[in-house]
Amino acid sequence: MSKNGIDVAPANGKLGILLVGLGAVSTTVVAGVEAIRKGNAEPVGSLTQMGTIRLGKRTENRSPKIKDFVPLADLDDVVFGAWDIFPDSAYEAALHAGVLDKYLVEDLREPLDSLKPMPAVFSQNYVKRLNGTNIKQGKNKMDLAEQLMADMERFKSEKGCDRLVIVWAASTEVFLEASDAHQSIEAFEKAMYDDDPQIAPSMIYAYAAIKSGIPFANGAPNLTVDIPALLELAERENVPICGKDFKTGQTLIKTIIAPGLKARMLGLAGWYSTNILGNRDGEVLDDPESFKTKEESKLSVLDTILQPEVYPDLYKDFSHVVRINYYPPRGDNKEGWDNIDIFGWLGYPMQIKIDFLCRDSILAAPLVLDLALFMDLAKRAEMKGIQEWLSFYFKAPQAASELYPEHDLFIQLKKLKNTLRHMMGEELITHLGNEYYESDDND
Ligand SMILES: NC(=O)c1ccc[n+]([C@@H]2O[C@H](COP(=O)([O-])OP(=O)(O)OC[C@H]3O[C@@H](n4cnc5c(N)ncnc54)[C@H](O)[C@@H]3O)[C@@H](O)[C@H]2O)c1
Repeated sequence: MSKNGIDVAPANGKLGILLVGLGAVSTTVVAGVEAIRKGNAEPVGSLTQMGTIRLGKRTENRSPKIKDFVPLADLDDVVFGAWDIFPDSAYEAALHAGVLDKYLVEDLREPLDSLKPMPAVFSQNYVKRLNGTNIKQGKNKMDLAEQLMADMERFKSEKGCDRLVIVWAASTEVFLEASDAHQSIEAFEKAMYDDDPQIAPSMIYAYAAIKSGIPFANGAPNLTVDIPALLELAERENVPICGKDFKTGQTLIKTIIAPGLKARMLGLAGWYSTNILGNRDGEVLDDPESFKTKEESKLSVLDTILQPEVYPDLYKDFSHVVRINYYPPRGDNKEGWDNIDIFGWLGYPMQIKIDFLCRDSILAAPLVLDLALFMDLAKRAEMKGIQEWLSFYFKAPQAASELYPEHDLFIQLKKLKNTLRHMMGEELITHLGNEYYESDDND
C-alpha cells in the first residue's frame, strides 16, 4: 500500500481488453497499440502513456509520468478481443474503415488478422442502418447475456488473461429514455427474460460484464449503464463503470473554448455547430433516431459549463444548434464548423469561427486505451460504481443522480489527477500556493 493511499493490487499478468464493435475506432486502437509495441509509433494523445503528474510542492520538481506513478498494465501485457456483427478480422475491418494508411495496416497484418470478432448481440431495432450476419441467437435477452458471459470466460482462459475490461465502441443505438424496466435489478432481469424492447443490446453487454465482475466503459451516447438497475448492480458486484460518449472532435473543442469565455465573463448569444463525416458512424447517425441519442449528448455540454441560471445576463437563452451530415467522400476525416456569436463590454457583438479538420478515430483511439487502463486500475483499487474522475474522456459524463456532470475539460483533468494522487497517498494539489509566499517567521 502507498502511504495513506488506497490498497491497489499490482498489475500482474495479462489484461484482456474486449471491444464491443470492431469498427473504425476499435481497429485504430488495436493497430496503434501494435505499432507502439513494435516501436514504430508514439502514443500521441494518450494521457496514461505520455502524461505526467506533478507531486508535492512546485519547488520539489517531482513530475513522474502517470504510468510510472500508478500501477497501470503495461502495453506489452495487453491482449485484445472483440465482438462485431460483421465477421471481418481487425485487418479487414481496418482496411474497410480507411482511417489508417494501407501500408501501415499491411505492416500489422499478422496481429490484426488474428483478431476475429465473436458473434454479437444485435438487433436492427436499435441500429437501423446496419445489417450483419455474425449475430448470436438466443431464447431471450437473458440467454444472450449468458452467452456473452461465456465468451468473456472463454476469452480469459484461452488468452491466459489475469483480468478483463470492456469498452463499448459499437454503433450508436436509437434514443431510449430510462423507463420502469431500468429502475431496479429485479425489474431489469425480468425484462431480460420477457424480451422487453426497453433492454437494448448495449445493456445486455453491460449486464453481462458487470455480472462477471468486469469494468465497463461506454464510448457511445447510448443510455447503456446510465440506468439505476445497472448502477445498483455495479455497486453490488464491486465493478467500476463509466460513460458516455468519447469526447473528441467538436465537443472537445467546445469544452476547451467555453470555460475560457466564461472565465473572462464574455457573453454568448449563440453557438452553431455543423459537421460532415462519411464513415459508418456517420451513416448510422444519418438515421434520425440514432442522431437523437448523439444530439442529446452533444447539447448538454454548454449549459452545464456556462450555467445560464447563475449568469442570466451572459448566457440566458443562447441558441445552441448541432448538426451532423453524412457525406461519404470524407470518410473518417470529419470537418466540424463552429460559428460562435459572443458579446463583450457594453454588449458589443463578436464572432469566433472554428473549422476543425479532424480525424475522428485518431482522436478517439487514445481515449479507449486510457479508459481501459484506468478502469483496470480502478478495479484493482476496489473502486466501484460510477467513476466520475474519468469524466475527462466523455461528452456526457455519468454522475450521481443528484449531481450535475462536470464538463469543463480542465476541472475534469484536475479531478482525474487528484484522484490518482489520492489513490497513491500523495498530497492533493489545490493550486492555492500560499506557502511559497509565507515568511519563515510564521512557521
Ligand atoms: N470516433 C469518435 O470520435 C467517436 C466519438 C464519440 C463516440 N464515438 C462512438 O463510438 C462508436 C464507434 O465509432 P466508430 O467510428 O468506430 O463506428 P463504426 O461504425 O466504424 O464501428 C462500429 C462497429 O460496431 C459494430 N456494431 C454495431 N452494433 C453492434 C453490437 N450490438 N455488437 C457488436 N458490434 C456492433 C458495427 O458493425 C461496426 O463495425 C460509435 O457509437 C460512435 O458514435 C466515436
